[in-house]
Amino acid sequence: MAEKAYLSYYGERNIIPVRQDIENLPRHMARRQALYRHLGIQPLALRGCAVLEFGPGTGDNALYTASCGPALYVLVDGNPASNCALAEKIEQGLLPRDRIECRAADIREYADTRRFDVVLCEGVIPMQADPAGFTSHVASFVAPGGILVITTMSPASILAEICRRVLKPFFTSLSLEEDRLFQELVRFFQPDLRSLPGMSRRHEDWILDNILNPWPRHCTFTIPQAIDTLDQEFDVLGTSPCFVQDWRWYKSIPEHAQGWNDITRAEYNRWAEYLLDYRARPGSPGRLPMANLDAACEHAVEIQHNIWHSNSLESVPDFLDILRRIGEMVKGEMSGTAGAIEDFSEGVKQLLEGSPAPNFRNFRAWFGRGQQYVSFTRRAA
Ligand SMILES: C[S@@+](CC[C@H](N)C(=O)[O-])C[C@H]1O[C@@H](n2cnc3c(N)ncnc32)[C@H](O)[C@@H]1O
Repeated sequence: MAEKAYLSYYGERNIIPVRQDIENLPRHMARRQALYRHLGIQPLALRGCAVLEFGPGTGDNALYTASCGPALYVLVDGNPASNCALAEKIEQGLLPRDRIECRAADIREYADTRRFDVVLCEGVIPMQADPAGFTSHVASFVAPGGILVITTMSPASILAEICRRVLKPFFTSLSLEEDRLFQELVRFFQPDLRSLPGMSRRHEDWILDNILNPWPRHCTFTIPQAIDTLDQEFDVLGTSPCFVQDWRWYKSIPEHAQGWNDITRAEYNRWAEYLLDYRARPGSPGRLPMANLDAACEHAVEIQHNIWHSNSLESVPDFLDILRRIGEMVKGEMSGTAGAIEDFSEGVKQLLEGSPAPNFRNFRAWFGRGQQYVSFTRRAA
């Protein structure tokens, strides 16, 4: 049977490895409010609305959405563990029973005659076999004038994770029991994850989802691809990170040759190289042709896919070679990132030489922008 993105891996293990730290609930809510603000969605915009969320997982993020007071909140997930977690939250009174509808379904087959003011689909689309088709399906449930929120991933934004995935065969070659292997991975990546300010996800879950999850060969879907998919009926409303500068005089906008989507595409091309490293504080637009950087990163993703799935180290030199080229490309503007890439290669060489304690130095603190968020509005009919 064909692998279903997320559903096969999560379902076989009965897991939902996206648990957020909600011990400090006000902090969690503040993080979500900040995200929604980037997306142009103030809490009042949700009050009394009909909201549909695809792939809510644990429902941790739904806590915030529900707190904004939608009149109806439909949650659709195809993973039994997600549906149990949602039922538990309703049982505990964390999600309002009278306004929530939970549907256990494959999103791709989900049908509903209702149209919704807000449709959310976070952390689901880029790994799907047909991300554009999946996006169009999800978007079809948005009412005219309504809002759609999705997430994207670019080859550059996930390169740091891709490097970490390349390390998996080094661990599997130790022939440890499954549990020991897992504990070793958690121990090994702890310095990396601890370096991330605002990390709100359990380290164990991050390992399950980012190192052990068999990602498909094509695991990216970029903001321009999302815009191309939705161009006919939707306009970009906001993004997180916020990179769009729009200096048009508002009175000129209705006559302006460039629409919201064109502006976002152009701005994306100016800033997207900084998705490579979350630590970058871009003062001026990047100078690299984005297509070259993304093509090189996409090549790295492909080599990683072979290394990961064959559990073989044979192609590791090819991976290091493409990384060296990426490092060369970015060293002028992102010297810290280029240094992290060099340190990764050095650590891998030490591993290949059999070192039990390879030193990955400054690679440890390098992460990309992972997933980006985009909100769209559906043009009124
Ligand atoms: C990576 S998790 C993201 C969870 C949550 N939205 C978040 O951002 O923390 C992906 C979620 O989407 C669900 N999912 C993915 N593909 C699906 C599909 N085709 N049908 C139904 N649910 C799906 C998974 O079961 C899981 O709960």
